[in-house]
Amino acid sequence: MSVTIKNSLEIKAMRKSNRLLQDVFSGLKEMIRPGVSTWEINEEGERLIRNLGGVPNFLNYSGYPASICTSINEEVVHGIPRRDRILQEGDIISLDAGLIYNGYHSDAARTYGVGAISKEAQDLINVTRQSFFEGIKYAHAGHHLNEVCAAIGNYAEARGYGVIRDLCGHGIGREMHEDPQIPNFDQKMRGIRLQPGMTLAIEPMITAGSYEVEWLADGWTVVTKDRSLSAHYENTILITEHEPEILTLSDSESKELL
Ligand code: MF3
Ligand code: CO
Repeated sequence: MSVTIKNSLEIKAMRKSNRLLQDVFSGLKEMIRPGVSTWEINEEGERLIRNLGGVPNFLNYSGYPASICTSINEEVVHGIPRRDRILQEGDIISLDAGLIYNGYHSDAARTYGVGAISKEAQDLINVTRQSFFEGIKYAHAGHHLNEVCAAIGNYAEARGYGVIRDLCGHGIGREMHEDPQIPNFDQKMRGIRLQPGMTLAIEPMITAGSYEVEWLADGWTVVTKDRSLSAHYENTILITEHEPEILTLSDSESKELL
């Protein structure tokens, strides 16, 4: 499949789908505290998605059994919600969620601290988020994709963090995963030239140790091989002539970053 360029109607639809996903995250963020199970987070996430008129896009994707991915501590991505997986003070939890509205997909991820967390954990969360913003400095028309990839990876590696190799970001639109693939590190080749109307899910996955990962026996959960902490930050963006539009970032979240 080739890279899709969205026309103005499709851009409106992408804005809408991704704005609804902001509301899902606002609701889920409020649930993060010690004693809550990842199952409850998934149930609430699915309820919010459907109440907003959306359809969960992760549910049954290649057989994934839930609507929200819940990945705790050394879990990088694709953790499966469980009734017996209870958040503990000091954990960090990555939530990855998406929905389909009117045929268009949204996708975003955030890592939250549960109660008070260590400085090591907070630094990891901050660097992961900042690496996304370093990357999107290059996400406008005329730049090549690898400028984004390299900026993300170089920022995190320069600070001593591990940058996951085995998973990457992606184009998004009528499909959750469209071309191009978007690695979070330097590819030594320019990649595609970015054009207005491309919508991309950019999603650094960063660890406090080595970048090596393995898969748990459930066939989904990706963990760091050295069991170091891992964080995830993802937004769906729209390429324009100038600054990219961050379709999954709410105004209040943008303000918190200032
Ligand atoms: N949100 C993931 C991504 O960013 C996809 C999750 S697929 C699932 O590409 F099956 F695990 F839900
Ligand atoms: Co994604």
